Amino acid sequence: MDKMALLLLISSLTVVFTLGHGSLPLVINTWPFKNATAAAWSTLQSGGSVLDAVERGCARCEMEQCDGSVGYGGSPDETGETTLDAMIINGDTMEVGAVADLRRIKNAISVARAVMEHTEHTLLVGESASVFAENMGFIAEDLTTNNSIQIFSQWLKGNCQPNYHKKVFPDPSKSCGPYKPRAAPRRNKRAHHGMMRSHDTIGMIALDEEGHLAAGTSTNGMTHKVPGRVGDSPIIGAGAYADSSAGGAAATGDGDVMMRFLPSYLAVELMRAGADPSAACKTAISRIKRHYSEFFGAIICANTTGHYGAACNKITGFSQFHYMVSNSESDTPLLKSVDCF
Ligand code: GLY
Repeated sequence: MDKMALLLLISSLTVVFTLGHGSLPLVINTWPFKNATAAAWSTLQSGGSVLDAVERGCARCEMEQCDGSVGYGGSPDETGETTLDAMIINGDTMEVGAVADLRRIKNAISVARAVMEHTEHTLLVGESASVFAENMGFIAEDLTTNNSIQIFSQWLKGNCQPNYHKKVFPDPSKSCGPYKPRAAPRRNKRAHHGMMRSHDTIGMIALDEEGHLAAGTSTNGMTHKVPGRVGDSPIIGAGAYADSSAGGAAATGDGDVMMRFLPSYLAVELMRAGADPSAACKTAISRIKRHYSEFFGAIICANTTGHYGAACNKITGFSQFHYMVSNSESDTPLLKSVDCF
């Protein structure tokens, strides 16, 4: 989705600037991915579990490609391939399933659930994750689209800019690879311009009236990433975390930086210690800011009583973060907003 389309979508929805009231059941997810929220909510309403809700909500985004950053045909890597990361967590049992660098399978969140339900493992990666998925009955298909081919060929034409290499030759700020290591003084800080909207993610938390809690994520990662790069989304405690005795959190943004701080884990532990969800989210963002003041990112948090909040890091071009909420207060998903700090 381009910027104009996103603005139109936002203006067509009712923006509510409030802190979350406590009400169960609850579905909350990053970004204005309204259809995903609605899919999760209707799953809960029709008797599905919180895991079903998170899986169907994230799967909806994968199918619709949301803003291009979830599902097939988005964020081609340096070879033009789209690869997917996803995770699901059961906050009652602390079982987790995740896939990273998943190739040729569209429905990454369901493969993550299969990892959780049909193996004793937590995370499968790359080609082997795809083989596992095929064995579990998922269909292998090309994730390339005309759009991803166009993004990739424009990037090649523009001398592979931007890219994520440093201290290599030829100079990665001017030339394509292949690159070799170069012993040299440190380069400037990582540049964030132009990369900001290339790594959004759906992160979702679902809670039911009995206090069952689940969370999940799905993304195609970062456009022009180095092949094999895995972001925060499939990393437990980074992309999402859920514990039915404390709360849930899910993050979006620059996963390379954010995963170093396990912000979702931190937020949940703060809520366990009594912080309200907005304060917990804010502290998780502050912790990252201390080291990376210019990072692009946001987090959503919900506690066990259905109170919720969000926080984001204010940088040029990103001063407000939008997210979606469904609870018993409204028949349709509500667009919420938080000012970044
Ligand atoms: N937050 C998604 C990613 O960095 O891959």
